[in-house]
Amino acid sequence: MAESRGQWSGRIGFILAATGSAIGLGNLWKFPYITHENNGGAFVLVYIGMVLLVGVPIMIAEILVGRRTQLSPVGAFRSLGKDKPGGGAWTGVGFLGVLAGFTILSYYSVVAGWTIHYTYLSLTGELATLATDPHALQTYFGRDFLANGKLQVMYHLMFMGFTTGAVYFGVQKGIERVAKILLPLLFLILLVLLAYSSTTSGFNEALHFLFVPDFSTLTTGSVLEALGHAFFTLSLGMGAMLTYGSYINKDISIPRAAFQISLLDTVIALIACVIMFSIINSSDIEVSKSSTILFTTIPTVFAQLPAAGFFNAIFYLLIGFAALTSTISLLEVVSSYAIDDLGWTRRRASVTMGSVIAVFGVLNALSLGGNATLTSINLVGRESTAGVFGTMDYLASNWFLPVGGFLIALFVGWILGVRDTVDELQKGHGEMPWFKLWHVLIKFVAPLAVGAIIVSVILGREYQ
Ligand code: TRP
Repeated sequence: MAESRGQWSGRIGFILAATGSAIGLGNLWKFPYITHENNGGAFVLVYIGMVLLVGVPIMIAEILVGRRTQLSPVGAFRSLGKDKPGGGAWTGVGFLGVLAGFTILSYYSVVAGWTIHYTYLSLTGELATLATDPHALQTYFGRDFLANGKLQVMYHLMFMGFTTGAVYFGVQKGIERVAKILLPLLFLILLVLLAYSSTTSGFNEALHFLFVPDFSTLTTGSVLEALGHAFFTLSLGMGAMLTYGSYINKDISIPRAAFQISLLDTVIALIACVIMFSIINSSDIEVSKSSTILFTTIPTVFAQLPAAGFFNAIFYLLIGFAALTSTISLLEVVSSYAIDDLGWTRRRASVTMGSVIAVFGVLNALSLGGNATLTSINLVGRESTAGVFGTMDYLASNWFLPVGGFLIALFVGWILGVRDTVDELQKGHGEMPWFKLWHVLIKFVAPLAVGAIIVSVILGREYQ
């Protein structure tokens, strides 16, 4: 069974693939702009706290369920839940994960596709020309690019093509190989950009902004946003880490791996912030709408440097790479359901699921201005949920992931049973002096914290 499902080549293969899943647009696009909106320092500290107290424990729980069952989410919860309280109903957690993977991928790949266009614009020099005038670039981004349905669909389909290709070739030859090549490259490019940013005049100010907390600016909203983001950036709540965990051997320490993946993810997010804030601070260009910093402000700042085209190109390529190792994990969850549960071959599963999501994603691609109906549809009725794109993001970030994470924590904390849990965690790890601490976190702290997100969503606050 394990043979036909696939396995990582070893510990490093797993860590790289899982870190590749974790590091993505969440780190390089979303984290910098929400840190900017939430005034830096204190938010960063709370975020790190959330990663440690909630993120790492839930990641351990997910990987543990995956390795225990050697199955993807639907099968995993079905087999473990079978003779426990709740029984077959736990299978629903698996299906929720598949639904979340489908939904997230359908819009994530649209944004990921932007990086291809921006790499292209950098190489042709067009971006540098546009970026000499901040307003011209804003207009270009919103009117000529987002609202250009043809371009949006084309890049989205391209990105889905790359993603499907990697999943098609399997756990070791596809997913792991891509991560092994792209991740080191990503680290290297980031280090080059970090070294460069340290020579800019805005570097110290950026460090101050990020690492000197001012708690007076912290609100309940930012605490919950930090938690929601910790979830998204660590790829938790929908069984992605569970699925990747189903391809590991018993000789790997799950807690150590979870800690290392989370650490790498957090360090990369912080480096991305240092780079971006340094270069923004060194110029007198004002940051307009935070969520578009990456595609409007950054190129404008780069434009003032020598070799702007070059820096821009490697920068967008980097973001594209990071996004690709994340979209791969999203498609893997959906595909492995078809492989494990429907008995499909990997080829059939990846191509069919990849195509269905690609086609559905066209609706997202056209809802950024390309098509009036899709752009204005608003099922939730709040500003940020406008369009099919906004609705999908809202559903995934506010409902599917928190509810999924909540149920995974409940399952492992309360239902699975201490004996099975300890048994699985000890394999590849040995003595666990911190087991009680983890158990308290997964039983009480994680469900309560994630429950707070769900309650606040019900009460009407959104976390994107
Ligand atoms: N973690 C990725 C990011 O930060 C996105 C991602 C990949 C994800 N797989 C996931 C998010 C599974 C939630 C669940 O960009």
